[in-house]
Amino acid sequence: MSDRYAVIGRPISHTKSPLIHGLFAQASGQALEYGAIEGSLEGFEAQVQQFRNEGGRGMNITAPFKLRAFELAERCSERAQLARAANALKFEDGLVVAENFDGIGLLRDIEENLGEPLRNRRVLVLGAGGAVRGALLPFLQAGPGELVLANRDMTKALALRNELDHPLLHIRRYEALQGQTFDIVVNATSASLVGELPPLPGGVLGKAGLAYELAYGKGLTPFLRQAREEGVARLADGVGMLVEQAAEAFAWWRGVRPATRAVIDRLTIPLT
Ligand code: ATR
Repeated sequence: MSDRYAVIGRPISHTKSPLIHGLFAQASGQALEYGAIEGSLEGFEAQVQQFRNEGGRGMNITAPFKLRAFELAERCSERAQLARAANALKFEDGLVVAENFDGIGLLRDIEENLGEPLRNRRVLVLGAGGAVRGALLPFLQAGPGELVLANRDMTKALALRNELDHPLLHIRRYEALQGQTFDIVVNATSASLVGELPPLPGGVLGKAGLAYELAYGKGLTPFLRQAREEGVARLADGVGMLVEQAAEAFAWWRGVRPATRAVIDRLTIPLT
């Protein structure tokens, strides 16, 4: 029997993970099965346990279970610890091990697929929720010139800074960004999911080489629209991040890093 993996979330019907991992397995000649499980709000932990008992080797975790997956794990990576969330689990040596590949997937997409290395660049990240928690450590490790984080709720943003306490990380109110410019701007708020625009002062996006929207498949969101109007050279949504985080998990589980370009191209929905 081939090794079994699955993604669990609620709702799960929209997931692209079985397609992505199926393409990776095919291209790299790995024999594995990858399914999708509709998670239960009451019984998530029991579902993970059952999958493991039935011989499952690892799982991807998506909303709303990333925090619970982190909590049930017996061992975790530093980035999962900072994110306090897991998007991948591995069952090995009798333990449940947690990882979080969302941030590293985002970083790889920006640096390698979109050709915008963070080193010495001015980077602006919008938001201070779970998505940002996952991204901060890989971003800071990439050595940006400066990493500015803006959020409406300053308490949340300052709490993150206190946890990380990194000299390159600066917390700003949106209003305080007036007159500043950045090389790379990442919208990691959930504003686009409800068709809203973070309260960015006009002109902040103007000089950026890249505006990156974490949401995938939402087309030209208000943030990307504003970026286009202000003349940002390149717009991107989270399709590359989605595929890159999957590639990281695949490599972690299988010891083989799959190629991602063709899979990204296949899943890309034009930004119109
Ligand atoms: P996720 O796990 O997707 O990051 P989350 O933890 O609920 O979701 O965090 C959502 C983030 O989006 C928060 O940073 C939130 O900002 P506040 O903490 O200031 O509320 C941000 N957000 C949501 N809607 C927004 C909007 N319209 N403008 C700006 N930020 C918004």
